[in-house]
Amino acid sequence: MQFPQGFLWGAATAAYQIEGSPLADGAGASIWHRFSHTPGTILNGDTGDVACDHYRRWQEDIEWMKRLGLNAYRFSVAWGRVLPTGRGVVNHKGLDFYKRLVDGLLRAGITPMLTLYHWDLPAELQDCGGWANRDCAKWFADYAGLMFRELGDRVPLWATLNEPWVVMALGYLWGQHAPGMRDIGAAAKAGHHLLLGHGKAVQAFRAQGLRNAQIGIVTNLGPQQPASNSPQDQMVAALWHNFINRYFLDPIFRGEYPDTVINFIGEFAPKAAPDDMPIIQSRIDFLGVNYYTRNVLAYDASDPIGSRTVFQEGKLHTEMGWEVYPEGLYEILKWVHEEYGEIPLYITENGAAFPDTPTPQGEVDDPLRVDYIRAHLEQAYRAIRDGVPLKGYFYWSLMDNFEWAFGYSKRFGLLYVDFETQKRTMKSSGRWYAEFIAGQRR
Ligand code: FCB
Repeated sequence: MQFPQGFLWGAATAAYQIEGSPLADGAGASIWHRFSHTPGTILNGDTGDVACDHYRRWQEDIEWMKRLGLNAYRFSVAWGRVLPTGRGVVNHKGLDFYKRLVDGLLRAGITPMLTLYHWDLPAELQDCGGWANRDCAKWFADYAGLMFRELGDRVPLWATLNEPWVVMALGYLWGQHAPGMRDIGAAAKAGHHLLLGHGKAVQAFRAQGLRNAQIGIVTNLGPQQPASNSPQDQMVAALWHNFINRYFLDPIFRGEYPDTVINFIGEFAPKAAPDDMPIIQSRIDFLGVNYYTRNVLAYDASDPIGSRTVFQEGKLHTEMGWEVYPEGLYEILKWVHEEYGEIPLYITENGAAFPDTPTPQGEVDDPLRVDYIRAHLEQAYRAIRDGVPLKGYFYWSLMDNFEWAFGYSKRFGLLYVDFETQKRTMKSSGRWYAEFIAGQRR
C-alpha cells in the first residue's frame, strides 16, 4: 500500500479528554466539567480534572508524536479557556496555551488540524440555553472569528464542529452526554443552531481572507444496514441512515434536511429562518469523516423508535461493544463521494478500545489494535484507488484518555497512559503505526 504523496498521517485528541486542569489560568468551566462533577453521570465517578495532564505535559506529548513519525495532529480548543464565559473578554493565558502548542507542532514538522468545538461548551452559555438558543450560533461564530484572527496564519486546517449529530442526540435527546438533556424539541433546535453556527463560522473564516488555511466540519458516519430483506427492516435502516449520515450533510451540501427524518419528528422538526440554509451551505474545503462501526438494524414494534440493532454473533467487537467492520469505512467513503461530490475527505477519527494491560516489564502488546488499524488502512487505500479524494488519516486516539460517559475505562490510545503516574508507554500498535508511516516516506 503506497498512499499518495502529501497524505497526512495523524492522531486525534480533544481538549476535555486529555488536558486536565480545566479551570487553570482563568479558564471558565465547561458543560463537561459541570456534568462530570454531577454524581451518577460518568462511570466510576471519573472527571476530566487531571485526564492526561496534557495542559502541562504538552511538550512531552509532542515528543511522542515525533517518535510516532506523525506529520499531522488533530486537537481541539477549549472554548472556555479562551473566552471563560463564552463571549466577551479574552483570557490571554488560555489562548497562549494553544499558541505555544501550535508553534511546538510546527517546529516539529507536524501539521495542526484544529477543531473549534469538541463538545465543551462554556457552562455560562448553557445557562442561557446552550445550543438550543439560536444566539449560540452567533456566540460560536464570534469565538471562531477570534481564533481565526489569532491563529489563522499558523493553522492550515480548521474544523468547526466535531460530530454535531452526537451533540444533538447524546447531549440533548438521550442525555448520556453533557448537558444531559432529554428533550426532543431542544434537540432539534440544537441541531439546527449547530448547523447555523457552523455556517456562520465558515463565513467568518472567508471574511478573514486566509491564504494558506482551509475549513471543514467533522461528522460521524457509518453504514446503517437492514438485518434482512424484509420491507420493515429496510425501512428502519433507511431511516437511521438518513438520520445519522444525512441529517447534517444534506443541509450543508444541498440546503435541506432529509424528508424522511423531518416527517418522522413531525411537530418537533427544526424551523429554519429564510436565510439560514444559504448560510449553512457556505462552501467548505474538506469534510472530516469519523468512522468506528456499522449498525445492523431490524424493525421492532416494542421500541419507541421502532427498531433495534442486531448484535453480529461471531464478529469481533471492541470494548465499546462496537463491531469491527473495516469494509464499512470503504462503503461510507464511497457513499459520501458519490453523494456529495468532489470534496476532499479526511478520516478524522478511526480507532478501537481494547482492554490493554501492561506486562510486568511494562510493555503493552495490543495485536487486536494493530489488526484494526491495518484493516481500516486497507479499506482507506481501496477507496483512494477507486477515486475517493482522501487526504489523510487520524487515528483516535494519540493516547488513552477520558472517554466521556465511560471515564477512563476505555483505552483507545497508541500510547498507554498510567493515570496514576501519567507515564506514557508506546503500545505495539504505536510502534506498528510508526513503522507503517516510515514505510510511506520511502
Ligand atoms: C467519538 C468522539 C471522540 C471519542 C471517540 C471514541 O465520537 O468524537 O471524542 O470519544 O468517539
